[in-house]
Amino acid sequence: MKPVYNFCAGPAMLPVAVMKKAQQEFVNWQNHGMSIMEFSHRDKHFVDVAKTAEKNLRLLMNIPDNYKVLFCHGGGRGQFSAVPLNLIGLTGKADYLITGSWSDSAISEAQKYGEVNVVARSYKKNGLTGIAPRDSWNLSDDASYFHYCPNETVDGIEMPNEPQVSVPLVADLSSNILSKVIDVSKYGLIYAGAQKNIGPSGLSIVIVRDDLIGHALDVTPSIFDYQKMSDHDSMYNTPPTFAWYLAGEVFKWLLDQGGVAAIEAKNKIKSDLLYNFIDNSDYYANKVEPQYRSRMNVTFQLQDEVANSDFLAQAEAQGLMALKGHRSVGGMRASIYNAMPVEGVQSLIDFMAKFAARAV
Ligand SMILES: Cc1ncc(COP(=O)(O)O)c(C=O)c1O
Repeated sequence: MKPVYNFCAGPAMLPVAVMKKAQQEFVNWQNHGMSIMEFSHRDKHFVDVAKTAEKNLRLLMNIPDNYKVLFCHGGGRGQFSAVPLNLIGLTGKADYLITGSWSDSAISEAQKYGEVNVVARSYKKNGLTGIAPRDSWNLSDDASYFHYCPNETVDGIEMPNEPQVSVPLVADLSSNILSKVIDVSKYGLIYAGAQKNIGPSGLSIVIVRDDLIGHALDVTPSIFDYQKMSDHDSMYNTPPTFAWYLAGEVFKWLLDQGGVAAIEAKNKIKSDLLYNFIDNSDYYANKVEPQYRSRMNVTFQLQDEVANSDFLAQAEAQGLMALKGHRSVGGMRASIYNAMPVEGVQSLIDFMAKFAARAV
């Protein structure tokens, strides 16, 4: 069978080696005659799977000891609520930077629980989108935290460095966690929905500094309360055990790849290949300021919008799936997360070249 490359923004491509291992042990996990999905989350075998996953994530991201790692329900959007529920009570107010559409959605939730100050919005200049420069931000003196989304999945925008702010930095890393080396100690809290670089959807990972736990508003649902989740090792209620197990397998795979620095180098090769091709083409264009281009979600427009549906149909026939851009942006989007091999990006480029020359 011809290889199929899935460019979906999420749920996204998973490492084939991980899926094969999961398939092989699906009904008979480690010779127990039952699936890992059928074990109680309190069973010592599952607890071991859970602890190993956390240990490996700590290793991959070099997470300091004064941070808790929580395996939560509710995906990325769940954390849009959980973050303010747990943190906004510190002062009643939070700063939010808008880098794209997911930042906006996070604000809609936070506004239910406290005062949100929008420090700045992304801008459009000469047809290119960029992130408002730091010296234009309207920061408040008394924010409980500063929230931002370093990689905007829909818009294909990525902020290369952590912003310098004086309050705890909270980041939605749903679409670029584990794609590059970051210094966790610069953050108060990191969260990520799993379905891009971690594993199956539904699970979200929260990495939170100890001093930011224990401030939840009284109305906080228990399963969103970081204190309760931490006190119960993320098993206050039944966790999504299969997603947790599979995330653990992805972490082992990442370690086998040489860790985050090694995958970052590969991600740079992949995104450079694609952006260089787009920049050298008269037929395709990327509309993000070059310094803010995402290494995970590459958006591009065809010269002629009418050709979009042909492009998608012909790409699919070549095994290049899910390239349609988000409806709010239009055009195309190639999501090239950790599990996308360089060959997948090269196949896409070969196809794009032929399509532009009408030679598919
Ligand atoms: C950056 C970002 N944040 C949040 C979300 C929402 O995640 P979920 O669908 O798991 O709630 C997404 C989904 O794609 C995302 O890309």
